[in-house]
Amino acid sequence: MQWPPEAIWESVAPLLPGFTVEILPELDSTNSELMRRARSGRTEAVLLVAERQTAGRGRLGRSWQSAAGESLTFSLGLPLAPPDWSGLSLAVGASVAQSLHPEVRLKWPNDLWLYDRKLGGILIETASHGEGGASTRHAVIGIGINIAPREAAGLSTLPAAVKELLPDQDAGTVLLRLALPLVRDVLAFERAGFAAFRQRFLGRDALHGRQIVLSDGTSGTAQGVDERGALLVHTAAGPQAVSSSEVSVRPASG
Ligand code: BTN
Repeated sequence: MQWPPEAIWESVAPLLPGFTVEILPELDSTNSELMRRARSGRTEAVLLVAERQTAGRGRLGRSWQSAAGESLTFSLGLPLAPPDWSGLSLAVGASVAQSLHPEVRLKWPNDLWLYDRKLGGILIETASHGEGGASTRHAVIGIGINIAPREAAGLSTLPAAVKELLPDQDAGTVLLRLALPLVRDVLAFERAGFAAFRQRFLGRDALHGRQIVLSDGTSGTAQGVDERGALLVHTAAGPQAVSSSEVSVRPASG
C-alpha cells in the first residue's frame, strides 16, 4: 500500500500548527490510541492511520471490523473549541461525502451510505484539554471507509465500497482526497457550527421523506435535520426533534 503522508502534511500543516501524519501497520483502534494520548497530555494535532485495527470501535458500543488493504481507518485528533458541538458528526459526514462522490449519501447521524448500503462510519469522541480555556476539548474524529467489497456476514447493514464508484482508488488515494477538505471543514465548524453545513447535509440526506423506526420505539417520516443537526421526525403524535446520540435509526422497509 502506498500512503501519501508528505502530501497530506504539506497541505494541512499551514492550517494546524504542530500537525503530524502517522501511518502505523497495526493498532487496536486509532480512536482508542488518540484518546489514550489525549488523556496523557499529548494533544497536538495529528492524523493517525492504522493499516489494520484489531479492536476497531463503532457507535453505541459496536465493533468496527475491517481488513488491511480493503478499508481506510483513521482518526484526526485536534484541540477544538466550537461554540456548540452539536452536529459535528453530520458536518464531518458532509465533508467526507463531498470529497468522495456525488452518489454518496448520509444516514443520520453519522453513516456514509451508498445505494442504501453502508460505505463508512464516523465515531467522534472528546477528551478534556489542559489548555485553551474551559470550552476547548481534544476532539478525536474517527472515520472508517470500506474501499474494496467486503463480506456482509455479521453486519446489520449490507456493506458498500468506494471501488464500486471509483475503481482506481485505494486507501491512500482516498485519504489524500479527504484529508485537507476534512481539516478545513472541521475548522469551519469550529467557527460557525453546524449551521454552515445544514444545506450540505440535507442535499445528501438518505432518510429524507422515508418511513423510519428509531431504537427508542419512535416511528414516523424523516423530515431532514434542524439547525443543530437534530433529526426531524413527523410522528403520529406530531413533529419531534431527535438529538440523542444513543438512538439509532433505520428505514422502516428494506
Ligand atoms: C460507526 O459506524 O458506528 C462508526 C465507525 C467508525 C470506525 C472508525 S475506523 C477508525 C476509527 N477507529 C475506531 O476504532 N473507530 C473509528
